[in-house]
Amino acid sequence: MWNIQVFAELPSTQRNAKQLLQSGKAKHGDVIIALHQTEGRGRFESRVWHDESGTNLLMSIVLTDIPSPIEDKMQFAAGLSVLRAMRTILPNEPFHIKWPNDILHNRKKISGVLSEAIWTGNSLKGVVIGIGINVNQEHFSGDIAARAISLKKISGQNIPLEEVRDAVLLELDRNLHMPADIFINLRNELEWMRGIGQFSLTDSDGTNFSGLRYEGITDDGALITNAPSGEQRIFQNGTLHFA
Ligand code: BTN
Repeated sequence: MWNIQVFAELPSTQRNAKQLLQSGKAKHGDVIIALHQTEGRGRFESRVWHDESGTNLLMSIVLTDIPSPIEDKMQFAAGLSVLRAMRTILPNEPFHIKWPNDILHNRKKISGVLSEAIWTGNSLKGVVIGIGINVNQEHFSGDIAARAISLKKISGQNIPLEEVRDAVLLELDRNLHMPADIFINLRNELEWMRGIGQFSLTDSDGTNFSGLRYEGITDDGALITNAPSGEQRIFQNGTLHFA
């Protein structure tokens, strides 16, 4: 199912995979991996994704054959796949998914997911899922240091990148074959957020909303919160910040 290509360095695996898909040169199951990215990017255009060369899993997966009920839910399927993979590699560790798809360990970020759909007119050409997982990186600089963690920092052991890659791809394959379970699993996995108290959210325009509390997700995965006014507020995108 997977056709894996590994590069020593790329500006961004995501950019590479999207260009291949756009130019008709990519097929379902192509996986682009780089040992280092010079222009890795996060979920919002302005956000960069840093890596220490050779230590982390940096991959973008091309999917063109997606069950239609989950075409627009791949960001959640990918997040859940990474979550499951983390638990396979380090069982009994407190991994959680933070809406929409960050993977945390004790509230520190271990993985980020970026899912981008490519369209030709009204028809979906495919989705490129970018996944960054901190595997063996030991030092994080600046303000990231307090907010990031790696599998090595948790376990004290080097973990082969291929092991992490294969665990994620296995879970992603499972999710693609069980599309009906994605939302049930996502709702269950997000239940822990009821216990985090108040948080703030920055939306894609950079607007900040504070004093929110988790209430749930809608049937299309939007975040339902309770705002300080007591009103319900629903967000389609954004980044959550815990106190
Ligand atoms: C986020 O948390 O904002 C998403 C981060 C996604 C990072 C990955 S690393 C592999 C792929 N290539 C990129 O340039 N970004 C994604």
